[in-house]
Amino acid sequence: MPKALITGITGQDGSYLAEFLLKKGYEVIGLVRRTSTVNFERIGHIQDDLTLVSGDMLDQTSLHNIIADHRPDEVYNLAAQSFVGTSWEQPVFTGQVTAIGVTRILDAIRMVDPSIRFYQASSSEMFGKVREVPQSENTPFYPRSPYGVAKVYGHWITVNYRESYNMHATSGILFNHESPRRGLEFVTRKITDGAARIKLELTDKLALGNLDARRDWGYAKDYVRAMWLMLQQDEPDDYVVATGETHSVEELCEAAFGTLNLDWHDYVVQDPRYMRPAEVDLLVGDPRKAQKKLGWEPEVTFKKLVEIMVEADMERLQKEIRNSE
Ligand code: NAP
Ligand code: GDD
Repeated sequence: MPKALITGITGQDGSYLAEFLLKKGYEVIGLVRRTSTVNFERIGHIQDDLTLVSGDMLDQTSLHNIIADHRPDEVYNLAAQSFVGTSWEQPVFTGQVTAIGVTRILDAIRMVDPSIRFYQASSSEMFGKVREVPQSENTPFYPRSPYGVAKVYGHWITVNYRESYNMHATSGILFNHESPRRGLEFVTRKITDGAARIKLELTDKLALGNLDARRDWGYAKDYVRAMWLMLQQDEPDDYVVATGETHSVEELCEAAFGTLNLDWHDYVVQDPRYMRPAEVDLLVGDPRKAQKKLGWEPEVTFKKLVEIMVEADMERLQKEIRNSE
């Protein structure tokens, strides 16, 4: 039975990856950090099938001990302070977790068993103020936030451990991917949740920031499959994972409100609080390498993704209303 360690298992991607690996017959170890209340909303349904271990990306000893005690075949490093907005408010913390955390876990692997395969959750945010369109594995980085800068560090330290120690260390440069399990602060979920609240007359306005920003939005379940495929390759490498399509935040509003037969113009207001000090205007990935080498294709379109998310938010809120009656 192959064994995988997932950091960030309580997050969106960690929960889908854990489900995926369990179905593949893996023993799944999940690193969780200590919190004062349990935050297993996304993994509660599979908790009995997982081995959860306590650790923190800020704590070298815990990472070393977990690797040494459990000896996984594969490590998926998904843990991060992943919200771009917060990275301006907490730049040092973001650097400690999202950048230096990668070195901590890579070095723990190197010391215990450098043959363990490693996946680093790199990000299209590294392209930032884009140098070319679309962005591929060869596009130079120009990060625009403390988060983006931290991810560039995480990417290069992964490449460096691959080249310095011959480790099977791979960097997946994933473009935005979403789902009903997406955190409520990210724009897709904020919009699908907001549209559902408006439809159910729980509120009548949705405040957003920059409506012109464009992103390449895919479905998280499709993207965790790509992570696994990367670690099954004979050689470690870097891969862009994206749909190759780009849409604006405005188009996202139109699609989400449209699913509920609402006109977004009637409800969306712009609020400077949600504008960023430096913006990433346009992201669109070139996934041809992943398609060719991994045989990876996304299965869910932008339109379908928005429908899945709106429906899930409607269902959840209707249930909450019923329970409160
Ligand atoms: P997410 O939902 O925000 O999950 C982040 C995870 O990291 C959570 O499980 C969180 O634990 C954990 N974490 C944070 N700080 C930690 C620490 N100090 N020690 C241990 N664990 C810690 O993020 P996601 O959307 O699943 O993304 C997964 C990874 O992919 C992240 O590295 C993200 O930066 C990267 N990425 C995401 C996207 C995307 O569009 N989703 C695209 C490219 C790259 P708690 O539950 O305790 O907070
Ligand atoms: N969050 C948010 N809230 N974003 C808004 C809002 C708002 O009210 N209004 C407009 N936006 C714009 C942001 O300015 C940004 O241009 C875009 O919507 C997407 O924002 P997010 O959904 O917060 O995602 P992100 O692109 O900044 O970062 C996500 O994707 C990265 C991959 O490119 C995160 O998941 C990162 O962890 C990930 O690496």
